[in-house]
Amino acid sequence: MYSISEIRDWVDKAIANLNLPKEPHELYAPVSYMMSVGGKRIRPVLCLLSCNMFSDRIDNKVLFPAVGLEIFHTFTLVHDDIMDNAAMRRNQPTVHHKWNMNTAILSGDVMCITAYQYICQADPIHLSEILRLFNQTAAQVCEGQQLDMNYEHHAVISEEEYLQMIERKTAVLLAAATKIGAIAGGATHQHIARMHEFGRLLGLAFQIQDDLLDVYGDADIFGKAIGNDIACNKKTFLLLLAMQQATGNDKKNLFSLLTDKQIAIEEKIKNVLDIYQRLQIRQQVEKHITGYFEKALALLETIGIAPERKEYVQQFAEKLVGRDN
Ligand code: IPE
Ligand code: IPE
Ligand code: MG
Ligand code: MG
Ligand code: MG
Repeated sequence: MYSISEIRDWVDKAIANLNLPKEPHELYAPVSYMMSVGGKRIRPVLCLLSCNMFSDRIDNKVLFPAVGLEIFHTFTLVHDDIMDNAAMRRNQPTVHHKWNMNTAILSGDVMCITAYQYICQADPIHLSEILRLFNQTAAQVCEGQQLDMNYEHHAVISEEEYLQMIERKTAVLLAAATKIGAIAGGATHQHIARMHEFGRLLGLAFQIQDDLLDVYGDADIFGKAIGNDIACNKKTFLLLLAMQQATGNDKKNLFSLLTDKQIAIEEKIKNVLDIYQRLQIRQQVEKHITGYFEKALALLETIGIAPERKEYVQQFAEKLVGRDN
């Protein structure tokens, strides 16, 4: 089996060697920029780790689709940053800030197409299954993003609505990564389905953690501006719990903070944080992350292959949701 760092190396090399067209420069420069400024690259790594669980062979027929997932993900970030009015991404200025809005739209579009070109390099034996899955996943990501924007204007949303939104905007892509890896690795139908569900549960934990880090993360590690979700009235898991649990003045203030268009952003963030603090939102959210993470691991355990073949995937998942220490 290959170690996580060997797999990560292949992904990094393949991304460093992306053979992008050179012109028009204005179209492709932002693509190179976004692909070269890093990111955790968890989707391609998860895809290859998942493949390696079932097969000792990792070749370009799985490496290229894995890279396609990363290109697609990065495309969604470029457009997401426009929608979320975000200035920083991966510790660098976002594309629409560094260039302009139209450049970010069109470079994003061409990234989506490039992603498909890479996905299409899957083994022809698996191509139709992988493409069907990828098409469905890509549409769900758009659906999730639309719900995310819709909910900015809803006073409250239910936990069920929240979960449906994060499942589509985030979890389905991690699920596609683990599923494509399993398909490419020649896993059985049952194992493929379980790897899909494992990726989905891990993806839910991952997005809830992203909500948490948006408030409590270290900006240098997170690579994005802290507090942006509060600034945009995003219905994060933190806000959802706070709205359910706040009483008296906190409840009144929380609702008025969300509709106050005059208040300075720093003050809004500080006031919302004070309410989170009083309600111990952070601790509660951490429990939910652990809950989904443990469900994901329990599912991995039900996959009937030698336990040592699952070790790297498990280790990677542990690192991903901050439980490696
Ligand atoms: C950011 O994804 C968007 C979410 C789904 C939370 P990542 O946290 O994987 O971003 P990068 O690729 O490492 O920058
Ligand atoms: C990420 O949601 C979902 C997609 C980009 C599809 P967020 O808006 O929470 O992601 P970040 O926090 O900007 O990375
Ligand atoms: Mg967003
Ligand atoms: Mg965003
Ligand atoms: Mg976020």
